[in-house]
This record gives sequence, structure tokens and C-alpha cells, in this order.
Amino acid sequence: KRVVLAYSGGLDTSVILKWLQTTYGCEVVTFTADLGQGEELEPARKKAELLGIKPEHIFIEDVREEFVSDYVFPMFRANALYEGLYLLGTSIARPLIAKKQIEIARKVGADAVSHGATGKGNDQVRFELSYYALEPDIKVIAPWREWDLTSRTRLLEFAESHQIPIAKDKRGEAPFSVDANLLHSSSEGKVLENPDDEAPEYVYQRTISPEAAPDKPTYVTVGFEKGDAVSIDGERLSPATLLTKLNALGKENGIGRLDLVENRFVGMKSRGVYETPGGTILLQGHRGIESITLDRGAAHLKDDIMPRYAELIYYGFWFSPEREMLQALIDKSQEFVTGEVHLKLYKGNVDVVGRSSPYSLYNQDLVTFEEGAVAYDHRDAAGFIKLNALRLRTLGNRARKIGG
Ligand code: ARG
Ligand code: SIN
Repeated sequence: KRVVLAYSGGLDTSVILKWLQTTYGCEVVTFTADLGQGEELEPARKKAELLGIKPEHIFIEDVREEFVSDYVFPMFRANALYEGLYLLGTSIARPLIAKKQIEIARKVGADAVSHGATGKGNDQVRFELSYYALEPDIKVIAPWREWDLTSRTRLLEFAESHQIPIAKDKRGEAPFSVDANLLHSSSEGKVLENPDDEAPEYVYQRTISPEAAPDKPTYVTVGFEKGDAVSIDGERLSPATLLTKLNALGKENGIGRLDLVENRFVGMKSRGVYETPGGTILLQGHRGIESITLDRGAAHLKDDIMPRYAELIYYGFWFSPEREMLQALIDKSQEFVTGEVHLKLYKGNVDVVGRSSPYSLYNQDLVTFEEGAVAYDHRDAAGFIKLNALRLRTLGNRARKIGG
């Protein structure tokens, strides 16, 4: 039996690795992805080797470009936000990790996959729905739902008895749980569990506080093509490079912090602190370019379906026909979403201060308060209002009648 484990190289997944070897007696294949979490990957290789994984069974891949171009960007075309605020930084990374695990499972002839998500969260659902969608007969092992290493002490004991190296700072309990990638970092649990207590400043790891940000605004121009960002200040950049650069700009200006109580798919509420510096700039910029390039009907329809689309991603249904159908609709809407947006970054704020496009629908002649040259006859508006008022007047008349 062979199992492909999503392996970070950290203590928890190292314990899972050993636990899979000892409990299931299976051969473990590790997959470690560079998603832009900002950690070296070579230590994960060393550690996997140390734990007895064959070199040909250690898979390490830089997936940053794929992550941004095939997952983050398609999602941003929709302006997706879960419950109005969350930019879905963790949710959108899970299907990619799952897909890579399945590809590796096929390559090495593994019949199972495993992950380190707990039995209480969204991540287990996202991983496993993705596995089953891509490989219907795959076996899934979720150690956190099975084992008895339920306390930190027992986990550490297990690690010690199996010669798993434990970093000094990992002996104590971590003050909260973190998940990070190029789009965001999230922090949950422990010191953050009481939703009435403000998150301590040390929770934040990829943004300075708005208070500490410069007193002078930073201006930046983002270029878009068919709904995707392609350049910063006129310089064409690959998707991952572009997001990395926006992250740096956002960080310096204290942009993209979010303290949120959200509804998990499994039914409970949880409190999370998110930092999405580049993504927050990207969202504003995208809305800015859409504002001049999208027709009203198209824009409103896309806003109607956005919460549904965001919910599908949050719930883990990336590989579902309904997500793909909505994606097709969203992608179609982006045909002319091309142009440039000028943004002003200042102490935690992102403002669109200018936008232009070769496909702009904005017609200054039409909207001007001065006498316009184009064919807009003010007198047409009188009939337009009158017909739209017909129902309201009918209702008003009835109200007057029954009201006495
Ligand atoms: N609550 C967020 C979400 O469901 C973040 C989850 C963070 N995951 C983690 N393993 N720490 O998308
Ligand atoms: C976890 O439970 O593994 C993290 C939180 C979540 O998935 O929602």
C-alpha cells in the first residue's frame, strides 16, 4: 500500500508521516508545494529523507505560477468574497494541492492520499471533495479524525519515541494556527478564540499596521487584460511575480487586514485573522477596470452570482460542474475588461483614483452636466419615469383606498 501525503515538513505532518508508516504499515510518498508560503522547501526534503522516505518518493514542486494563473486569477475575475469580506486565500489553494497529490498518486501507483487537516474544519472537506472528484476510488486517510494523539503532550511523546526532530520553539503550544500562501495568511485559534478580544499585533505577519504605515500615499498603476492583472506601472509581470509585488506594496501600506467571524461549512462559527495585502489591491483594481468596461446588465448579473460562486469555493466545490458553469459565465464577461487602473494606497486604504480602457463604455458626452452633443433627449426621461411609476401609483392608490 502506498499513500501520498501533503507534507509541509513541520512537526504535525511529520508525526502524520510516521503514524501512517506505523499504523497502516504503508509506504509514504510526500508532496511538498511552494505556494508562496515563504518557507524553504529543502528542509522538508531533508526531514522526509531522515524519516525514511525514498528519494524518488519525495516530491517538491514550485506551483506559485500555476496557483495564481489557474486558481487565484479566475477567482478574482468574479470579485469573489465569502460572507462579504473573506478573500478565500486558504480555500482556493486546497484544490490545487489535492490535484497535485492525485497526479503523484497516479505516477507512483499509490492507492491512497492523506492530509493534515483536522476533523473540525473546512480544509478536510476541500481536500477530500477534490480528491474524490478527480479520482473517485481513491482511499483517503485523515489522521486527525482517527488517531488518539489528541493532546499536544501525546503528539510530542509520539514524535520523541519515533525520533522525529522537534524544533525548540515547537515544544510549547503554538499561540495560534497559521496557513499561508502567496495570496494570504490566516491565523485562527488559541489567543484568537474569543471573538471579543482584539487580535494582538504579533498575530500579523505580512502587513505593517495602518498606524505604522507612511504618512504619504503610494500611487500604483495596474494593467488588466481580459480581467487578469498583467502589469504594474507599465512593466509586464508573470502572475506570481505580479502578486508578489502587490503584496510588498500592500504590506508597506498596512493594506488587507481582516478580523472576521465566519460560518464554517461544517456548521460552527470561527474567528480568523486574515492578511491579503496584494489581493485587496487587486480586487479594488479589478472592480475599477470593470466599472468602465462592463455593461450594467453584465455587471449586475455577475454581482448576483458572486456570493454563490464564493460559497462554492469556500465549501470545497472547485471541481464541480456548477463552479465550472459559473466560471464560464464570469470568463465570458471579461472579454473587454482591459485597461489601466490608478490606485492610491494610504494607511490601510486602497482607492481607485483613475481608470482608462480602449474599450471603455464611459461616455463623457452622454453624462456631462454641460449641454451634451449626443442623442440624449431629456424629454424622453419623462415617459421613462412615468411608465416605471405606473405600478407604484397603482399601489399607492390602493393603499390610500384601504387606509381610509
Ligand atoms: N477559515 C479559513 C478558511 O476556511 C482559513 C482556514 C485556515 N486553515 C488552516 N489550516 N489553518 O478558508
Ligand atoms: C483545520 O481544521 O484543519 C483548519 C481550519 C479549517 O479547515 O477550517
